[in-house]
Amino acid sequence: MNSSQAPIIRRRVNIDFASAKVERWSHDSKEFENALNAMSFFFPTGETYFVDSVRACLDQITDPELKQQARNFIYQEAMHTKEHARSNEELKKVHPYGEMMERLAKAAMAPSRRFMPKSTQLATTCAMEHFTAMFANSLLTEQDHVMEANDPAFAALWLWHAVEETEHKGVCFDVYEHVVGKGPIAYLHRVAVMASVTLMGIAGLGIGFGMIKWQQRKLKKAAGPEAKATVEGAPALSVLAKFAPLGLYLDYYRPSFHPWNHDNSGLIEKWKAAYGNFPGIRESGSNEVATDAASAATPS
Ligand SMILES: [Fe+2]
Ligand SMILES: [Fe+2]
Repeated sequence: MNSSQAPIIRRRVNIDFASAKVERWSHDSKEFENALNAMSFFFPTGETYFVDSVRACLDQITDPELKQQARNFIYQEAMHTKEHARSNEELKKVHPYGEMMERLAKAAMAPSRRFMPKSTQLATTCAMEHFTAMFANSLLTEQDHVMEANDPAFAALWLWHAVEETEHKGVCFDVYEHVVGKGPIAYLHRVAVMASVTLMGIAGLGIGFGMIKWQQRKLKKAAGPEAKATVEGAPALSVLAKFAPLGLYLDYYRPSFHPWNHDNSGLIEKWKAAYGNFPGIRESGSNEVATDAASAATPS
């Protein structure tokens, strides 16, 4: 098993978003900021799906170490759900597209929940975890810039999330191989699901971004030349493309792929030393449970 490349640490997080500059938290570009906001509105629905797909397999995990890693994965994703939901409440006060994106996320995930077998739901989470791991790697590679160019609360949120996505990037994959298998059928199922997740993800984000653009145009027209900064900068898929380099993406299709073939644990260590003590982020005890998260973690 390879998941233990980096310890999967349970952290209790409660960042102060109420004092953050929600209407313009990034100095990079409004397109970048709106693209990340749109993803943030997707996360509570998406990450609850991740939690449920792994939790559904807990009873089939016979390796105690992997079972503990799966529980830590659930804890971390539940905490991400909680913190993004908190930040989204502040963002929705200035971005009318928030409610729209949340509804779109629920509509996008519902058919898979309802009609797909548990093994396909687990493979869907593996595929999405590969995207979040690539995105996290890109953010952490530029972590100094992320802290300098953004409001501290939102920079801390995205970097902390990126660190935990990196810590647990191998867990769902290992659970899949443990529960579904490592043979040719399991491999073909894994890559077929990735191809479909990629196409559906591009289509879903494209529709979401198009809806934001349409809403912004309407609001701008209504507000005239006095339109607020909150209706500027429609997100575009090209803004996100640089976070998922083609080479890293294609690695997933190799039969020998494992998320930790790409060892970037040094980025976690860098964050711990430079930004790990941000106010509102602390390591929790190993028996602590994310009781206030949307999906509570299973106790150790
Ligand atoms: Fe997450
Ligand atoms: Fe994750």
